[in-house]
Amino acid sequence: MHFAHRLDRFGDEIFASLNNKKIELEKQGRKIYNLSIGTPDFVPPQHIMDALVESAKNPDSWKYALRDLPELLDAVCGYYERRFHVSVAPDQIMSCYGTQEGVGHLALALCNPGDTVLLPDPCYPVFQAGAFLSEAEPWYYPLTKEHGFLPDLAGIPEEVARKAVFMIVNFPANPVGSIATPAFYEELVAWARKYDVLIIHDNAYSDIIYGGVVGGSFFNTPGAMDVGVEFFSLSKSFNVTGARISFLIGRKDVIQAVRLLRSQIDFGMFLPIQKAAIAALNGPTDTVKAQCVEYEKRRDALCSGARAIGWDIPDAAGSMFVWAPIPPAYTSSMKFCMDLLDRAGVLCTPGSSFGPHGEGYVRFALVLPPEKIAEMLAAVKASGILGEA
Ligand SMILES: Cc1ncc(COP(=O)(O)O)c(C=O)c1O
Repeated sequence: MHFAHRLDRFGDEIFASLNNKKIELEKQGRKIYNLSIGTPDFVPPQHIMDALVESAKNPDSWKYALRDLPELLDAVCGYYERRFHVSVAPDQIMSCYGTQEGVGHLALALCNPGDTVLLPDPCYPVFQAGAFLSEAEPWYYPLTKEHGFLPDLAGIPEEVARKAVFMIVNFPANPVGSIATPAFYEELVAWARKYDVLIIHDNAYSDIIYGGVVGGSFFNTPGAMDVGVEFFSLSKSFNVTGARISFLIGRKDVIQAVRLLRSQIDFGMFLPIQKAAIAALNGPTDTVKAQCVEYEKRRDALCSGARAIGWDIPDAAGSMFVWAPIPPAYTSSMKFCMDLLDRAGVLCTPGSSFGPHGEGYVRFALVLPPEKIAEMLAAVKASGILGEA
C-alpha cells in the first residue's frame, strides 16, 4: 500500500502549532480574539433560509439533481445583468460547490502535468492546491507594496507568459485587501490576448469594497469574455459559506470543458441549495449593501485604531481582510503570530502561510464588530508587543 505523491505537497503544520496554542490558552481561561478565519459572523437573509427549508420538505428534492436548474441559470443571468450590467447566456454558467472546490478542480480540465500556471504570491491557498492536484507547475507573480499589491504584468518573463495556460487573479484580494482598477483590467485583457493565457478571475469579494467604490465583474472590461472566466461565489455576499454555492461564468469552451469533467464525478447540486441560490439571486440585496457598511466600520476600527496605537496598518481597499505589516522588531510572521496570541490573546494568520511574499505581514479577518476590534487593539497595546526594538 502506498499513497499518491501529490499528497506530499500538502501539509497543515503551520496552523497546527497556532491552533494548539489557542486551545491551550482557552483551557487556561484566557480571552481570545479570533481574527484568523474568513467566516462571516453575519447571518443569511431569512428568505434564503426559507427557500431551502421549503424545498427540503419536498421528497422530490432529495433525488439526484443531475443538472443546474434552468431557473438557477436564469437567476444568475438576471443577477449579472442587474448587478454588473453584464449579459451572460445560460451556457456560459455552471455551478460549483463553492469557489474553493471550483478552483481546486479547474486545472484538471485545463492542464496537463507540467503545464505552467500563473498564481499570485501571496495567494488564497486553494489556487496553489488546484495546481498541485493537476500536477501543473505554478509560477508565482508577486503582489508587493511597491506595486500597490497589483500584478506587474511587465515583470512576467516573455517565455513564462508564452507557455502559461492560465493566470488566476483575485480582486478585491485575499489576503492583501487591494482592488484593481478598470485600467489594470484593460491591460490584463490585452496581455492575455497577446500571450493566449486564460484569465481566471476570482470575484469572491465584489460586494465588500470601501470608500464608495462599487465592485464590478471582470466582464465589465471590453474583451474579457474572450479571454476569461470568473468565479462568482454567494458565500460572502449572502453569508452562506456552509451551503457551498458558487458559479463559474464566462468563455463557453472553458465552461464546456469543466462541465465535461464534472459530469464524470458529480450528480449536481442538492436541489434545496439550488432553490436557496435562486432566492438569493432574485431577492432583495439591501442586506448585502448594509453589511458592506458594517465591514467598512470594522476596517476603520482596525486600521485607524491600529495607527492610533503606533501600528502603521494601511487601510484595506476591499475584501474582508486587513494586511498588516509586522512590527520592525520581528522578521518572522509566524513568530509574531505566536507572540501576539500568547501576549495579547489575538489570533491572526501569518502572511508566510499565503506564500513567500507574504512574509513580513499578518492577515486579520474582519469577523468581529468595531467595539470588539477596539478591545482587541487595547489588548495589543497593553501587551507592549508593538514597542519592542
Ligand atoms: C479569494 C477567495 N476565493 C474564494 C473563497 C471561497 O469561496 P467559496 O466559499 O465560494 O468556496 C474565499 C474564501 O475565503 C476567498 O477568500
